[in-house]
Amino acid sequence: MSTAAVIGLDLGTTGARAVLADVSGATLAVHEAPYDLHTPRPGWAEQSAVDWERAAFVAMAAVASRAQRADDVRAIGLTGQMHGLTLLNRAQQPLRDAILWCDLRTGPQRRELEDTIGVRTLVRHTGNLPLEGFQAPKIIWVRQHEPDLLERTAHVLLPKDFIRLRLTGECLTDVSDASGTGYFDSATRRWSEPMVDRLGLDRSWLPEIRESPETAGRLTPAAAERLGLRAGIPIAAGAGDQPAGAVAAGVVAEGDAAVTIGSSGVVFAVAAAYGAAPDGRVQVGAHAQPGRWYLMGVTQAAGLSLRWLRDTFLPGLSYDRLVPEAMDSPPGSRGLLWLPYLQGERTPHLDADARGALVGLTTAHRRADIVRAVLEGVAFSLRDAAQAIQGVGAAVDRFKLAGGGARSPLWRQIVADVFDAPMRVEPEGRGPAFGAAMLGAVASGMFASVEEAVRVTAVPYATIAPGAGGSAALDAAYARYRNLYPALAEASRAAAAAQAGEPGDV
Ligand code: XUL
Repeated sequence: MSTAAVIGLDLGTTGARAVLADVSGATLAVHEAPYDLHTPRPGWAEQSAVDWERAAFVAMAAVASRAQRADDVRAIGLTGQMHGLTLLNRAQQPLRDAILWCDLRTGPQRRELEDTIGVRTLVRHTGNLPLEGFQAPKIIWVRQHEPDLLERTAHVLLPKDFIRLRLTGECLTDVSDASGTGYFDSATRRWSEPMVDRLGLDRSWLPEIRESPETAGRLTPAAAERLGLRAGIPIAAGAGDQPAGAVAAGVVAEGDAAVTIGSSGVVFAVAAAYGAAPDGRVQVGAHAQPGRWYLMGVTQAAGLSLRWLRDTFLPGLSYDRLVPEAMDSPPGSRGLLWLPYLQGERTPHLDADARGALVGLTTAHRRADIVRAVLEGVAFSLRDAAQAIQGVGAAVDRFKLAGGGARSPLWRQIVADVFDAPMRVEPEGRGPAFGAAMLGAVASGMFASVEEAVRVTAVPYATIAPGAGGSAALDAAYARYRNLYPALAEASRAAAAAQAGEPGDV
């Protein structure tokens, strides 16, 4: 007997990942197709939308071929890296490589917006500051540095919505991803008219907005042929990768929070009513669940810290061998501290000039201490993010741990100990693509609501209790960690200034 199924696509930072899932929540197939990230200068991060399209179609076609019959696939849901700027011309072709969420070139443009419009006004219009990674300061950068491109611009899209355009021929987006542009009013779940005007955006450039589980376009015959699927199936509006990951983890009620260690690290909390930090220190947006909002704190280099350590000093070593080495070092890493600001930092400092540091080295330190310090430093930065969210008055009571970092027994124990809270560990195979598939299932009518999808597809979670890994030593280390950012702020700024203008791919 064949089963009704849905495809979820996650257009990630390192590649496209597609899953085929059924209504019981079982994952029937997974396929990943990688693409490159370009760093033409330090702090810049770009990707080719043509590479995205190729990888996304490869991944979706691969899982589509695993359905028993093409007609079994009833919908597609989209998610992906948030904030990226994709500029298209009238012929719907990319005008340049997309500028990504982790690109830091727009410090001056962000400051210009904050100085001319004012922090409180920006937060009143959008709930957020126009952070470096957001689209708003990037559009100003393009206007200042590549003005001819804006003259030829006909569409401004977020990364996953470029794939939607290729699937449906339509320019549409969803509320949760739009929340990360810098010109979306998270409170009313609409484009912010005052911000659209202040940024000089042409309204015709902007996609229409839908709630995440709504249908936003249908598969064209041409795309259906490329994928081996039936034309006309609905494409759910979908969500940014963090809100989609929250749906996958069942983080949809107030008090629920997801702690995700992927390339970036995120603490994502759900709120039943809109509220923003007056200084914009915490990201705010419309959740993928209609009628709910999210508060989010982001560590720019979480998994990326570990990847950088490995690729730079221990190339070829697998994480499965590298991470357990840290067990030879005690909680607190023999006094070593890692500041994970390899890409500047968002929460709580909102400082693109923050820089990474390994502090406290002596000749007594071994590789194990350094690996452990990196794991602990990332957990400390996530605790900072959770505290910033709680500072806005949000209840954050129940934590789910997700992402690649949650696969490591040591890292998840460190996170539970640093948070001094139980962590429910998401089973492998869930994640943003699965959340997007569930939004597709709601769009196609297989479920009546996001809550129903979450309830029906729920799976058991293992719980990691805090305390087993030396909370007292970690608390003391966290207190010393908190002092590092202010102590190093001036040196970091000087380093950032010295690095500006150096060639990239270093
Ligand atoms: C969220 C954020 C990242 C990216 C890439 O604000 O910037 O999570 O979406 O994963």
